[in-house]
Amino acid sequence: MSEPAGKVSLTGIKPSGEVHLGNLVGAIRPALRLAEQYDSMYFIADYHALTSIRDPQLLRHYSRSVAASWLAAGLDPKRTTFYVQSDVPEIFELNWVLSCVTGKGLMNRAHAYKAARDRNIEAGEDPDVGVNMGLYNYPILMAADILIMETDVVPVGKDQVQHVEYAADIAGSFNHLYGDTYSFKIPQAIIPDTGAGDVLPGLDGRKMSKSYDNTIPLFLPENKLKKLVRRIPTDSTPVEAPKDPDSSAVFQILEQFAPESAADVVADTRKRLEEGGMGWGELKNVLFEVLNAELAPMRERYNAYMEPGSELDEVLARGAERARGRASRVLSAVRKAVGIA
Ligand code: ADP
Ligand code: TRP
Repeated sequence: MSEPAGKVSLTGIKPSGEVHLGNLVGAIRPALRLAEQYDSMYFIADYHALTSIRDPQLLRHYSRSVAASWLAAGLDPKRTTFYVQSDVPEIFELNWVLSCVTGKGLMNRAHAYKAARDRNIEAGEDPDVGVNMGLYNYPILMAADILIMETDVVPVGKDQVQHVEYAADIAGSFNHLYGDTYSFKIPQAIIPDTGAGDVLPGLDGRKMSKSYDNTIPLFLPENKLKKLVRRIPTDSTPVEAPKDPDSSAVFQILEQFAPESAADVVADTRKRLEEGGMGWGELKNVLFEVLNAELAPMRERYNAYMEPGSELDEVLARGAERARGRASRVLSAVRKAVGIA
């Protein structure tokens, strides 16, 4: 692929944990669908993960495993641009320029920082306890990610919309000062349609999230996947009694995971639950079979990418080269505009 010609969408992926079923349904699939409509760029935001991950081996592992997961899930590096943030040093130079046109007050109001402060105040602590400057400056680095690629749209979950608005704000400040020489494109957040419910439930019925330790990781070996599915809580309604599919976490996972690939199984299962005669054990077997049928080939691709010396490194190196081409063009225009070059 050469330089994007149409509208550009940019997806940033923070490598801060093993990819799970909730991520696949709520983030990966909808983000991959955008490649049909936009010139799509995807990147692993490893320097963003550094604000919270302090174990170097773990950060290295997550960066690799999250990249391998997206590729295994169908990201096509030939049709899109896929790179690692830290492979594009231009981003970090732009980060400084942007921080010089960003008001501190704007950063004080950022959700993540404010939430950390509020928690501290509530606990009677100094408001800034445990807050590092990486957390504080996080939105500026994210603005640099977005602006350096001349991004049109940024697909995000609701919690990230403010960050994209900040990127637009910061671009506005820069354009106001230097717009005669260079203007950033103003990015827009879009919340992609997940085509499913908003939230995939986890093993305890709450939202599946690594912070709740209730996830089904995508690439578990088959026997472990089966065990986890067995752990999803159910009530003691007897086999023969009619059941409400929509109040069952097992059914919700089935329906959200397989709206298309197993539509007939989902419809038939719904009917059998409502009529009575299908027990929770059988429902779990159905869920396991549907999950495993779709995940098994992905798991194989994932494992192949995770082998040392696999194609993964080349794929990311090619992506970085392409991304740097675009970034260096923007950065040199910015350097000229501000009087550095
Ligand atoms: P986690 O909650 O496990 O920390 P992240 O916050 O890293 O997950 O989420 C990464 C992306 O995956 C976000 O776009 C988020 O909306 C999506 N996502 C995470 N968990 C779920 C879920 N249970 N259902 C739907 N989408 C989810
Ligand atoms: N902050 C995003 C998250 O936590 C990750 C991210 C970093 C990002 N840079 C980005 C997302 C640029 C979109 C565009 O999920």
